[in-house]
Amino acid sequence: MTPSDVKATLSFSDGSPSMELPIYKGTIGPDVIDIRKLYGQTGKFTYDPGFLSTASCNSTITYIDGDKGELLYRGYPIEQLAVNCDYLETCYLLLNGELPNATQKAEFQNRVTNHTMVNEQMQFFLRGFRRDAHPMAVMTGLVGALSAFYHDSTDINNPEHREVAAIRLIAKMPTLVAMAYKYTVGQPYIYPKNDLSYSGNFLRMMFATPCEEYKVSPVIERALDRIFILHADHEQNASTSTVRLCGSSGTNPFAAIAAGVACLWGPAHGGANEACLNMLEDIQAMGGVAKVGEFMNQVKDKNSGVRLMGFGHRVYKNYDPRAKLMQETCKEVLQELGLENDPLFKLAMALEKIALEDDYFVARKLYPNVDFYSGIVQRAIGIPVPLFTAIFALARTVGWIAQLNEMIADPEYKIGRPRQLFVGSAKRDVKPLAQR
Ligand code: CMC
Repeated sequence: MTPSDVKATLSFSDGSPSMELPIYKGTIGPDVIDIRKLYGQTGKFTYDPGFLSTASCNSTITYIDGDKGELLYRGYPIEQLAVNCDYLETCYLLLNGELPNATQKAEFQNRVTNHTMVNEQMQFFLRGFRRDAHPMAVMTGLVGALSAFYHDSTDINNPEHREVAAIRLIAKMPTLVAMAYKYTVGQPYIYPKNDLSYSGNFLRMMFATPCEEYKVSPVIERALDRIFILHADHEQNASTSTVRLCGSSGTNPFAAIAAGVACLWGPAHGGANEACLNMLEDIQAMGGVAKVGEFMNQVKDKNSGVRLMGFGHRVYKNYDPRAKLMQETCKEVLQELGLENDPLFKLAMALEKIALEDDYFVARKLYPNVDFYSGIVQRAIGIPVPLFTAIFALARTVGWIAQLNEMIADPEYKIGRPRQLFVGSAKRDVKPLAQR
């Protein structure tokens, strides 16, 4: 962290001594005021529920400029990565800081490929679930269960062990998501096939059966790979912060990633893709494009509790660059599958058009986020709606583990322990039961 020449001064209206606070500059983005000594010197905490103004760490991995609508992985714009790189190159970049050359790429791909199989015991964990269990409930359990297989062999203080844990997680997530799907539909699990690409292998594990081989379509393979790239990391979002906080106690990294999966599930975060598609299907059932105006009135009515899912973001106050790329992919996939007239895509475009012109959305700077179009693409590929967030988890795993490993490698890292403003009862005495 580079110290700034400028310092902040905190003064109090009651005459308590003021305090000078150092400021640090990032490579890009807002400076931060270092308040670490605030409590020691003033006996006061800062108050920032929801982290609206708080940087929880310093990081070199991902940068978002929410006003410009810019997303950089290790400095590279997401638009360039999506066009010029595949998902595994992106994983290498996020984990190592640089894009791989051809040899490094081949080695990395080999390492991931060699870890795609999961222990046969994993099948028995699955059998404990109801067939209709939500895939994210299943994934939380399965990823947590991985910690049992690699507990004694994982020393988080050893960089090589951290690297192997990262490779295992990236390699096994597609296998686990496909197993969760096959279990739901009552089909046999399909083992990974290592001569396929990362996304090609996933598609085959999802859609092949022992009686019929699955032919991977290059357009769908590329589309899925792009979905993975777009979801790979997003700096200190709720699930990543969960992984960091969980991992800060020194816990098993697979368990920390399971915590990330659990957090991602919520509809305000990764669950938005499922919620968005359900919303589109509901509007379609009500009458489709003709009912868009009526639906928008509900969204704008604060008492209705209805939100336009796939819209708005804590950081982006401009078009989410991932949404633009996802919209392109959506068009490509629908064309490949002969679904150019897909009514949900048309409906989504109509909603977007109205929202971008409506004062309610304009004033609040609400734009489509990555989840607005991702559901339509996934549904067209044949991925069932409840599995959407599991695909997000698969793709985000690399971001979680890169961020976790970055934190553990930082010599200054401490267990995360927020403070609070206590507003409950002051100390009081317990009355005997008869007097209460
Ligand atoms: N529909 C209608 N109104 C909205 C929406 C929306 N989707 N999003 C925000 N608003 C309004 C909100 O009611 C508030 O209005 P007011 O100032 O009058 O009270 C204002 O915009 C600011 O919203 P907020 O909830 O204070 O903003 P936040 O930063 O806390 O929430 C968000 C961000 C993503 C949770 C929210 O925009 C949302 O719920 N969006 C829908 C869910 C969604 O698509 N989530 C996916 C996020 S991207 C994928 C990921 O990275 O996880």
